Amino acid sequence: MKKLLIASIAFVLVGYLSISGIAYVHDKDYAERAVARPAVSPQAFGVRDVLDRNACYYCHSRKAVLPNYAALPGIRQLAEHDRQTGLAYFRIDSLYGALESGMPAPEADLAKLETVVNELAMPPKLFRLVH
Ligand code: HEC
Repeated sequence: MKKLLIASIAFVLVGYLSISGIAYVHDKDYAERAVARPAVSPQAFGVRDVLDRNACYYCHSRKAVLPNYAALPGIRQLAEHDRQTGLAYFRIDSLYGALESGMPAPEADLAKLETVVNELAMPPKLFRLVH
């Protein structure tokens, strides 16, 4: 009985570590590639870097490519639900566009961003646990 318990804990632990390991590499890879994209100013570059490092695009951009493990049962449903709700609430693409072109960012987007930053609401806790 005790062996089974230890084995299950080890299984969960190894699973958690592998998934967060893959997530780490995937997110870092994305952020590094994003650095090569043009930005209108050093400030815009910095803002985009923060957004990228916190992986906001996962749930707020249609263009996001998820890591392979997002196809696993359980994780897939969770990711799909988060993305669907996240996209319905907030799209980050025009903000990215503004940082690249220098056009003013949409006021409504900035206001929403301010709220989640003040409330430390994003990214969601469960997501932060892995990424
Ligand atoms: C794991 C998916 C996920 C990630 C990653 C994520 N969000 Fe969200 N976001 C959501 C969901 C789901 C909602 C819908 C509201 C809720 O459930 O809290 C949301 C809502 C929002 C809203 C709208 C809030 C409102 O009340 O209108 C903004 C703005 C936002 N997110 C910004 C961000 C930013 C900035 C980041 C990165 C730091 C981020 N999100 C990362 C899933 C995510």
